[in-house]
Amino acid sequence: MTQTATATAHPNIALVKYWGKRDRALNLPAAGSLSATLGPFRSRTTVTWGADRDTFTLDGTPRDGGPLAQVSTFLDHVRAVAAAPLGGAAVISDNDFPTAAGLASSSSGFAALAVAATAAAGVELPPAALSVLARQGSGSAARSVYGGYVEMDAGVRPDGEDAHAHPLFDASHWPLEVVIAVTVEGEKDVSSRDGMNRTQQTSPYFRAWIDEVAPAIAAARDAVRERDFDKLADVAEASALQMHASAIAAVPGVLYWRGATVEAIHRVRALRRAGTPVFFTVDAGPHVKAFTAPDAADAVAAALADVPGVSSVLRARVAGGPELL
Ligand code: DP6
Repeated sequence: MTQTATATAHPNIALVKYWGKRDRALNLPAAGSLSATLGPFRSRTTVTWGADRDTFTLDGTPRDGGPLAQVSTFLDHVRAVAAAPLGGAAVISDNDFPTAAGLASSSSGFAALAVAATAAAGVELPPAALSVLARQGSGSAARSVYGGYVEMDAGVRPDGEDAHAHPLFDASHWPLEVVIAVTVEGEKDVSSRDGMNRTQQTSPYFRAWIDEVAPAIAAARDAVRERDFDKLADVAEASALQMHASAIAAVPGVLYWRGATVEAIHRVRALRRAGTPVFFTVDAGPHVKAFTAPDAADAVAAALADVPGVSSVLRARVAGGPELL
């Protein structure tokens, strides 16, 4: 008997970053993190159990090697909790946002896969367990199991059962917008997984970075609760810069920025100095993501499109959680 289900999930952007693991095999984060889930971008994933073997088609292209192995390992977690043998799965996933946007497609991809794979298997998981499952695919995916503003707990248990996300506030609590300044197109040369592992193993600043995370999360949580833009701006920019400082100090240095990245950061700072509510964050890539108020988003998009080296700007806003179709 074939059992099939389709789910969608949005990617998220961390305001307080996740960068480092306390257990690589179980993919447990070394510290917590705090994010906003972003639409309209989404991954849409269909899982059909009962196949001879696992297959994975991403954006219309059948994948094998590493990407298939990662999906297959993830599916093993679902097979382990299912009541009856499931066999292999055909996984078909599409992202409606360009890879070049520098949004973590792994966050929306594994969140959608967790929802679709469990639903198709008839496995009902409480939200925290769904977040644990998504985390085993990718740490940031644990947060995309929820919409709005989300906090990830590092947990303390060796088995990682307490390392999952929980929702803080719905998107409607504070409907911020995001302007993504796309700088260099193309795939990045160091994945976030490799970049954070190298930072952890070789950067003299890794410990100092980790020590900053818990107080940053407390401040960011308060700032979102109070809708205090300046407070959130200060903590989010500091978290992004501290994460990158620890990465740049790795050996060899993990440097995701290009010239246009730095120019876009300066433009965001100039806008904020002049009174526009806007702040920047940067993930494991060269693009700059500017959080802003809805009534300032047009001006921020125009200013960032004008930065030399910025090839395009994309618009997004804080959005809801996964949906089972
Ligand atoms: C810079 O979630 O991609 O986006 O758990 O190894 O799959 P793995 O890492 P991943 O790392 C995300 C890193 C980041 C910061 C963040 O999203 O918190």
